[in-house]
Amino acid sequence: MQIEILGNAESVAEQNGALVIKTQQAEARVMVYSPTIIRVCISKHFSAVDESFAVIEKPQDEFTWQKLHDTIELTTPALKLVINKYPLRFNFYTTDGKPLSEDDPRFGTNWQAERVINYRKLYPDEKFIGLGEKAGDLDRRGCNYVNWNTDAAMHTPTTDPLYKTFPFFIGLHSGLTYGLFFDNTHKSYFDFGATTDEQMSWFGADGGDMNYFFFGAQGIRNILQDYTWLTGRMEMPPLWSLGYQQCRWSYMSAEEVLEVATKFRERNIPADVMYCDIDYMDGYKIFTWNKKTFPDPEGMIDQLKAMNFRLVTIVDPGIKIDDNYAEYKEGVEKHYFATYPNGELYTGSVWPGRCHFPDFLNEEVREWWGASFKALSAPGVEGFWNDMNEPAAWGQNIPWMVKFGERFMPEIRNVYGMQMARATYNGTKRILNNKRPFILTRAAYAGTQRYSAVWTGDNAATDEHMLFGQRLVNSLGLTGMSLIGVDIGGFMGNPTPELMVRWNSLGVYTPMFRNHAALGMSMREPWQWGEAYEQIIKKDIEQRYKLLPYIYSGFYQSTQTGLPLSRTLAIDYTTDENVFDIKYQNQFLFGDSILVAPVISTAETAEVYLPAGDWYRLNSDEKFAGNQVVNTPAPLTDLPVFIKAGAIIPMQNIIQSTNEPGDGVLLINVWNSDKPSSFVYYEDDGVTYNYQKRAYHKRTITFDPQKKEIVFGEAEGNYQSKYSKIQVVGHGFGDSTLDKITNNSNSSFSIAW
Ligand code: GLC
Repeated sequence: MQIEILGNAESVAEQNGALVIKTQQAEARVMVYSPTIIRVCISKHFSAVDESFAVIEKPQDEFTWQKLHDTIELTTPALKLVINKYPLRFNFYTTDGKPLSEDDPRFGTNWQAERVINYRKLYPDEKFIGLGEKAGDLDRRGCNYVNWNTDAAMHTPTTDPLYKTFPFFIGLHSGLTYGLFFDNTHKSYFDFGATTDEQMSWFGADGGDMNYFFFGAQGIRNILQDYTWLTGRMEMPPLWSLGYQQCRWSYMSAEEVLEVATKFRERNIPADVMYCDIDYMDGYKIFTWNKKTFPDPEGMIDQLKAMNFRLVTIVDPGIKIDDNYAEYKEGVEKHYFATYPNGELYTGSVWPGRCHFPDFLNEEVREWWGASFKALSAPGVEGFWNDMNEPAAWGQNIPWMVKFGERFMPEIRNVYGMQMARATYNGTKRILNNKRPFILTRAAYAGTQRYSAVWTGDNAATDEHMLFGQRLVNSLGLTGMSLIGVDIGGFMGNPTPELMVRWNSLGVYTPMFRNHAALGMSMREPWQWGEAYEQIIKKDIEQRYKLLPYIYSGFYQSTQTGLPLSRTLAIDYTTDENVFDIKYQNQFLFGDSILVAPVISTAETAEVYLPAGDWYRLNSDEKFAGNQVVNTPAPLTDLPVFIKAGAIIPMQNIIQSTNEPGDGVLLINVWNSDKPSSFVYYEDDGVTYNYQKRAYHKRTITFDPQKKEIVFGEAEGNYQSKYSKIQVVGHGFGDSTLDKITNNSNSSFSIAW
């Protein structure tokens, strides 16, 4: 194997807004995207087009630079990049000279055959969080990872790689924060001091360039804001997708789908979504319906609609080889499928048997794919579940010589699923004509938040998986993704009734609340567990519906700032060591002020770490001081959930579906504090894109303990809130009760106690 080093800087010049430094082996380009975002791209042969699947912004900011004797210094208003010339190394500092992250002085960037690696200095107290859907603990120090999108069926909490690639991590040391996004789609590697005797960390890829974005903002919130400015933010999800979702592989007939939906209504258990997994299709042919078992899709969906349900259907990328199948014939005729180098179509087997695979890297193919959804949307489907898009084929190892246009599998694999989701999103958005589609994908790459929600794939019905799933959700939240789900109850295996109940109560606080199970597993609907457990599950699902105004406002925040709904405590309590303790690492904030402590199904008490501040137990309003571990009851009926003092949480009374108008009362719950606080309340019609034309209702609600009043700021936007009344409900106010109801008005008003 040949090892090539980057070498010494031989020339430096500013060209087209970039600082270009040449060595004998390669060229480095440094670009400034904002005062806190600097890109370094090192290549032996730059391609003519600078292309990224993730990045949607261009270099923007001017920078100043000067050549010194051994270094070049580039400065922005927020960062200093010191470039050592002999040999070429890149070291990032705060403007007052504190090191944020530096190349390992010995090895920096080098090539090992086609593989490109960057070695970085490891600081004694450095922690690493991020990389999205990855096994292991919150702090990834001492671990290594591979990004290679994989159909990780039967995975365990230590399996790597899983389904998705997010080559973005956040480093924490010396009270400082930085982020690094390695925008390279090849199979990539991250080693956070696992194998280098605590001397350095490294990352690299099997091919492509050493192309990374350095984020130097202080505070994880600011880094996420920058990262999602660069790679985009999610759109407002359809409100119905935030309700309870009932899935199964598979409800085998229209009758069964309708029967399950009817049972929800008969038993008054709120729900919004039914799913059709692969068996709705004719021979697993995408964009078809099984004529025997689903003879009248439109009739079925009309009946679902009449019960206030929406339908989501699955699609897989594999197109069945079948001469009587339009998509197959058209795809072959128009050369839409991936090929071998000799032009032959690649064939792999998935659910339908032998299949070809659309080249989603090609825009024309994406258009074709997107338009094909008419077969599903015409009868009324509004949600589109993209599965098996790693891509999966039986045997798993699709040959690396498989071609997508001019590019081969090794470069494409990690973005294939994202490009399928992109095609699905663009196509269905167009077809649905101003209605928001709901897209759910299993495989993903950085930037997928622009197109789709994600779930964590085929988990198992164990307590361990439930806790691991929460860590995955929290970690995916550090990648710009916010609408994230896990298979509640476990996909493989059968949960005990206690685990089902416990997982369901965690589902209330999971951004996407979907119950799903594999073929052959026990039935999972809320009534399958006996009357007593059904009542607990029902109460939990009702709690989800009560919280929807808060959850929806939380998603608005994701669209504006890139902050996820489920937040590892590391985001707000970054320098608190307890947050990284494996005993407490699964805890998270759901939105601004609900702290949730996942607990296994067999425990009746839990040790919960409450970070700084005051907290109230949700179900009792009992108050606790923070910065301490509390031993707290955790019966199956009451997952430990704590509310931050000063929290303002908008809720509503129980509805059975987001399609119901409800009673028009918005309950503003306020937990007492001695400090002022505020909340941005957001509402829109929940289904269309009109919110992008100011059809929303948004206001800041402020709690002022000194003045003893709650102020509702003037409402922005021209959407009329569906809540005609506002009821303020106080918690922890002792004798001075705060429980007042008033008319909702768009102008500012206040409520005193
Ligand atoms: C895959 C998916 C799973 C789905 C099944 C059948 O295993 O991950 O969610 O139910 O395929 O389509």
